[in-house]
Amino acid sequence: MGFIKKRQKNFDEEIEKKLDKNNVPKHVAIIMDGNGRWAKKRGFIRTLGHRAGMEAVRRIVKASSEIGIKYLTLYAFSTENWKRPVDEVNGLMDLLIEYLGREVNELNENNVKLNFIGDLSMIPEKCRIKIKESEEITKNNTGLTLNIALNYGGRSEIVRAFKMIGSSLLSGKIDLNDIDENVIADNLYTSGQPDPDLIIRPSGELRISNFMLWQSAYSELWFSDVLWPDFEKKHLLQAIFDYQKRNRRFGGI
Ligand code: FPP
Repeated sequence: MGFIKKRQKNFDEEIEKKLDKNNVPKHVAIIMDGNGRWAKKRGFIRTLGHRAGMEAVRRIVKASSEIGIKYLTLYAFSTENWKRPVDEVNGLMDLLIEYLGREVNELNENNVKLNFIGDLSMIPEKCRIKIKESEEITKNNTGLTLNIALNYGGRSEIVRAFKMIGSSLLSGKIDLNDIDENVIADNLYTSGQPDPDLIIRPSGELRISNFMLWQSAYSELWFSDVLWPDFEKKHLLQAIFDYQKRNRRFGGI
């Protein structure tokens, strides 16, 4: 290991030691942003920014597992991202196939369970096949659950839940008075998972961008100017460190 990497590792270990092991967020969700700007700054095409973003995904998944986070949700492609040039969209789908091909065995060895959330019916078939295969390989794992949000939008997730609940209502499976917050949560893609404790958005933008609208009701938000391809374990540790200093009241006093 080179001198700089070794110094970084020591630095990460120092922050990690300071973390309260009893207050590690169970669920961290990240709006991965800034790939395009990262590429532009270097005179590269945008797809190279996404490729560098994929390396950040590898680092942060590994780090999350080491820290003991139970759920990590990564926003990889939104329902609005179809507006991008077709080459960029295809490049992103190909990157995802490459990521799964390269990583699934290592993820499996590390007890990571892959779970895709979003409307996959619109995702190219070759990509869908790889997704199903990766979910199948890792389905019995009990470590980190890695949710990858693909063709995901918080509003469309809620519309989908409305439709599912509406159909149960029409068929008489449930009664109007049965509908409560739990029923809605159970009909979201994240059914059975805890809401994100911490939502991270790098790249300087201060928005939620249609991400986990229902689930984020009491999430702590953490923003950073660092562009996603530059995001490292030390940034994640800093976010968790700051999170641990917050006073979460959930509407109480
Ligand atoms: C937003 O940056 C990023 C995306 C729309 C794609 C995120 C995808 C990856 C990190 C790579 C592959 C993912 C996985 C899970 C392997 P932007 O393009 O909007 O950046 P900009 O705002 O600087 O233009």
